[in-house]
Amino acid sequence: MALQAASGPAPAQRPGTQRSITLRIARSNPAHDRSTVGFDDFEVPYEKWTTVLDAILEVKKRLDHSVAVRYSCRQATCGSCGMMINGRPGLACFTKIDELNSSVVTVEPLQNFPVIRDLAVGFDSLFENHREVKPYLDRDDTELDNIADGELKEYPQSPEELEQYIQFANCIKCGLCNAACPTMATDSSFLGPQALAQAYRYVGDSRDRGKDSRLKVIDDSHGIWRCHFAGSCSQVCPKGVDPAMGIQMLRGYMLGFGGGSSGNNQK
Ligand code: SF4
Ligand code: FES
Repeated sequence: MALQAASGPAPAQRPGTQRSITLRIARSNPAHDRSTVGFDDFEVPYEKWTTVLDAILEVKKRLDHSVAVRYSCRQATCGSCGMMINGRPGLACFTKIDELNSSVVTVEPLQNFPVIRDLAVGFDSLFENHREVKPYLDRDDTELDNIADGELKEYPQSPEELEQYIQFANCIKCGLCNAACPTMATDSSFLGPQALAQAYRYVGDSRDRGKDSRLKVIDDSHGIWRCHFAGSCSQVCPKGVDPAMGIQMLRGYMLGFGGGSSGNNQK
């Protein structure tokens, strides 16, 4: 259903009337035809609470079921529904149409990722880079070795030690930071803000003892030293993670200025 849409601020709502926007959806199917990227426009009604994902699903339900989009939780938790929304990376389920203040909402696949179809991109490289930095507590012992008085004890950690890394543990692997990163756009081997932030999440964890092997991965021309500190990763993160700061902390750690836990926690 192609429509000609005028851009501009969203119209004010009069009592008893329903507002609508033009939802402009990028369409492509690289497996079928690599050269064609087009846009389809759909007129979609919205309420104050309607999200971009709601609007896309309305299109799929009533106008064109062939639009490809990935989503799951619809509550900013699973990290599946990232896309470019009016030129900026965002979670479709966490972005309200009303707050965009625009009569045209353009949705495109996330930048810096290969397109599968329409709005769905491939996350293989995101997950591979994430695995590279060993995103787990690396220790020789297990909690099963830590039994006292017949009871299994968790690895103890003080509130101050938790504070060192807890914001980085909020990452939902949505890839918005990688999509916003200008370095990712020019260096396909760059580990990226998501993986580097997760490297810091474990380097900063007092319970971890695998820092040396993890730091070997990130101390590389495609690792922490490739970041130009544009800071756009931190601006788009929907979970309040600050990947740019994590990369700074890792650099400080490598240069001997601290920025991580000692890694000698034997508790
Ligand atoms: S750091 Fe933020 S933007 Fe990047 S993947 Fe994690 S939650 Fe998404
Ligand atoms: S659908 Fe899960 S984060 Fe949007």
